[in-house]
Amino acid sequence: MSDDDKNKFPGENNTGHIWDDNLRELLNEPPTWWKIGFHMSWILVVVYTIIYPSWPGLTTHFKGVTGWTAMKELKEDEAALDKIRGPYEAKIKNMTAAEIMADPELSEYAVRSAKVLFGDNCAACHGSGGQGNPGFPALVDDDWLYGGTLADIQTTITGGRKGMMPAHAAMLSDAEVDKLANAIVSGKVASEPLFTEKGCIGCHGADAKGQTFMGSANLTDSIYRFTAKDQLASVKYTIKHGVNDASDPKTRNAEMPTFGGGKLSDTDIKKLAIYVHKLGGGQ
Ligand code: HEC
Ligand code: HEC
Repeated sequence: MSDDDKNKFPGENNTGHIWDDNLRELLNEPPTWWKIGFHMSWILVVVYTIIYPSWPGLTTHFKGVTGWTAMKELKEDEAALDKIRGPYEAKIKNMTAAEIMADPELSEYAVRSAKVLFGDNCAACHGSGGQGNPGFPALVDDDWLYGGTLADIQTTITGGRKGMMPAHAAMLSDAEVDKLANAIVSGKVASEPLFTEKGCIGCHGADAKGQTFMGSANLTDSIYRFTAKDQLASVKYTIKHGVNDASDPKTRNAEMPTFGGGKLSDTDIKKLAIYVHKLGGGQ
């Protein structure tokens, strides 16, 4: 016992705690580089908390000598942006969408700022690039339900759209639905007698190319409003259950929300109409 108690490494600045014969705790000073780092770090903390909002109190906190806040910085950034945007916004406020689009600089401005608006308000349904989603029409092609002129697009965004096609399950046999659906998928429905006999012609038109005033889809171009892996089955479904027909619980729902009436400003709607028109399919 007395042997173990003796410090086997006298004079080397250890604490006297020794394990496994030679593993021992020393009292050396930490290296200089470490001490410099250590002191710099707490000095930095003090300086930082003097400059920026920091120490909490009971009801408020120390505001920092510079008075900086993230909110203030945001407001300053916004003010700087408004300064750049201001003159453009003032100009386009009283112009029509067509006039704005005719001016290269203003039209470029409109498209840039509409990109953000589109992401915030439209992309969830129509896809981030307007490429469409099942049930939500593509905006990049030149196939329009409601027309692709600047004015048509503006009307669509302002007032929303809700096409109506009645369910036909009760008035068509399965064989007739098959016939019509196959004629549509092969692009020849206009010459299918059932198309006229069953009244499809009244809405989709004699050439089956649809009518933009009611949004009745073009049934001849193999571009589908309701896309699906099995397009034939999807067409059959639409014929049977219609679109937005409240009397059929299996009907397709298709509603483009209204963005006018204060949801978006008139200027924002004009910008978006130009943006959509320029996605590729504007007429
Ligand atoms: C909640 C989903 C939804 C949102 C959000 C939405 N749309 Fe739509 N949009 C639709 C649907 C559904 C239709 C098709 C309506 C129909 O079939 O009657 C449509 C139709 C359209 C059309 C007509 C396409 C054509 O072929 O004529 C345009 C243009 C359009 N949307 C633009 C926009 C823009 C721009 C925004 C953003 C400001 C937007 N949409 C936001 C669902 C949406
Ligand atoms: C009362 C008017 C009306 C009648 C009648 C009508 N349709 Fe439609 N149909 C529409 C409208 C409007 C749409 C587009 C709905 C929408 O997208 O909001 C549509 C859409 C469709 C679609 C979907 C096209 C696509 O791109 O996905 C098919 C298929 C279709 N109709 C076939 C028919 C057939 C076949 C008949 C006759 C048996 C018929 N429709 C009768 C108004 C009508």
